[in-house]
Amino acid sequence: MNEEQLSLRRFSLSMPEDLVEQLDALTEAKGYANRSQAVSDIVRARLVDEFARETRREIAGTITMVFDHHKRNLQAVLTDIQHDYQDLIISNLHVHLDHHNCMEVLAVRGPARDIRELADRLATVKGVKHSRLSVTTTGKDFS
Ligand code: NI
Repeated sequence: MNEEQLSLRRFSLSMPEDLVEQLDALTEAKGYANRSQAVSDIVRARLVDEFARETRREIAGTITMVFDHHKRNLQAVLTDIQHDYQDLIISNLHVHLDHHNCMEVLAVRGPARDIRELADRLATVKGVKHSRLSVTTTGKDFS
């Protein structure tokens, strides 16, 4: 994020001393230019989490699954589910991790409620070893 191109508003914050020290340590460790950039990033991350809870808000994200493709019908079941939600799935990536295991990553965009429903359906298919939804912003909600 290029802070210079944004219109910035200055305001003062009061925080417990030890929290400020930890903020400064985080700012340095993560390589932020300054406290303001660190705090902006933290606020955006929190907002993304909140948006993911608002059922109708449009979010973007990824669903990552690992499964054994030797399990009977598993691949077909996963594909059937994905076809039911084709409007939400922008792209997918299939990687053969080893002889047994496949990893599939779906890029998704749509209402938070529908994305969550898709993620839950995929995660609960028998034979899926792990599945995780990672939510981000569509980029339209804030600069
Ligand atoms: Ni594979």
